[in-house]
Amino acid sequence: MNDALDREKFGSIPHAISRRAFIKGVIAGGLGVSAAGYLFRASSLFAQSAAGERLITINVNSVNRHADVMKQETLAWTLRHKLGLTGTKLGCDRAECGSCTVLIDGVPRYACSVLTHSVRNRKVLTIEGLENPDGTLHPLQQGIVDEQGFQCAFCMPGFIMSAMGFLKSNPNPTRAELAQGVSGNLCRCQDYDKILTALMRGAEYVRNSNYA
Ligand code: FES
Ligand code: FES
Repeated sequence: MNDALDREKFGSIPHAISRRAFIKGVIAGGLGVSAAGYLFRASSLFAQSAAGERLITINVNSVNRHADVMKQETLAWTLRHKLGLTGTKLGCDRAECGSCTVLIDGVPRYACSVLTHSVRNRKVLTIEGLENPDGTLHPLQQGIVDEQGFQCAFCMPGFIMSAMGFLKSNPNPTRAELAQGVSGNLCRCQDYDKILTALMRGAEYVRNSNYA
């Protein structure tokens, strides 16, 4: 994404109203938010699903999980519909919006465009895998809660996972660098200025913490 589009995305936008509790509820597991598009595609995929499934094991959030998977099944589908990890969102389902971003071996990838069979023997990290077992949010998540950086928050898990991957290579980015780092993610609410502020706050928290 070029600089002009980044400026358009991250230009000044008025602050939205308070919704701290809602965002905190969504941020840990992505509950309560859905997209209409994939629901229509879901019916056709279910119709095909009875035949050709194969039991495989994939490592998700440091746990080996078993699932019956079709050869053409995407990782996003497996995460959401076979493993119950609905924090990974499906927006476009064709590698355009970034809502489905997860980390595969530490690298951000669009889960809607990765076949589940291809991630055997690799490590998948989803938004559900960020918080501590005691429920303490990852500092990047905490920064977003503190800044209340999203409106509907449908795009939020994807932005967080993209930022997670980017911060591994650049833990102390400028605002422009971070904007470039998450430029593969789109927000239908067009709340880019607040999103970037929240991610910058989260990056600061990560630097000041013991988290990787
Ligand atoms: S749902 Fe995967 S990029 Fe949009
Ligand atoms: S906050 Fe609504 S889609 Fe991004």
